[in-house]
Amino acid sequence: MSSSDQSDADLIDRVKKVHRAFPTGVTIVTTEADGQPFGLAVNAFSSVSLSPPMVLVCINETSSSYPRFFASRRFGVSILSHDQQDVAMRFSRSGGDKFAGLSWHVGENKVPLITDAAANLELEVVSMLMAGTHTIFIGKVLSAETSGKPSLLYSGGGFFDGAQLVPVVTS
Ligand SMILES: Cc1cc2nc3c(=O)[nH]c(=O)nc-3n(C[C@H](O)[C@H](O)[C@H](O)COP(=O)(O)O)c2cc1C
Repeated sequence: MSSSDQSDADLIDRVKKVHRAFPTGVTIVTTEADGQPFGLAVNAFSSVSLSPPMVLVCINETSSSYPRFFASRRFGVSILSHDQQDVAMRFSRSGGDKFAGLSWHVGENKVPLITDAAANLELEVVSMLMAGTHTIFIGKVLSAETSGKPSLLYSGGGFFDGAQLVPVVTS
């Protein structure tokens, strides 16, 4: 390994640590192809615009479900609730039928969604940007629902219960 390869690897390690220092929720990003649902766990999710409402997700091009997203005009984002860690684990594994035996439904815009999630979005793809290992999918919101359930949180490589947050006391 050359010294520049080593410094690249060191930088990537430091960047991974930076990401672990940034708590997020956990989403399942879904799509439909040939009548079958596909999805993966994603924490690279962000609001982009409010008018019109748009969000983004970043999907690794090596993911087995990536070609389904690339070919699709619609996708879903289910923000997992605090008691859905098993769903996060199921969708962080690659390949296979992740929806078998799971409680899921089809939204009003024909997008697969996780039932009892903290929130669900259905989106129409408006832009795809290649960025290194990942593609950024920007979607315009077609439908938006919240359940009122607390969210599942991901921080430092572990899952946390968003129902048990301790408020910061302000003086
Ligand atoms: C908490 C968590 C967050 C993740 N975030 C992302 C992400 O933002 N983008 C991504 O491409 N993969 C992400 N992954 C990894 C994918 O879920 C994982 O690679 C999955 O196996 C891909 O499934 P597939 O190969 O069936 O498409 C995340 C995994 C976990 C557990």
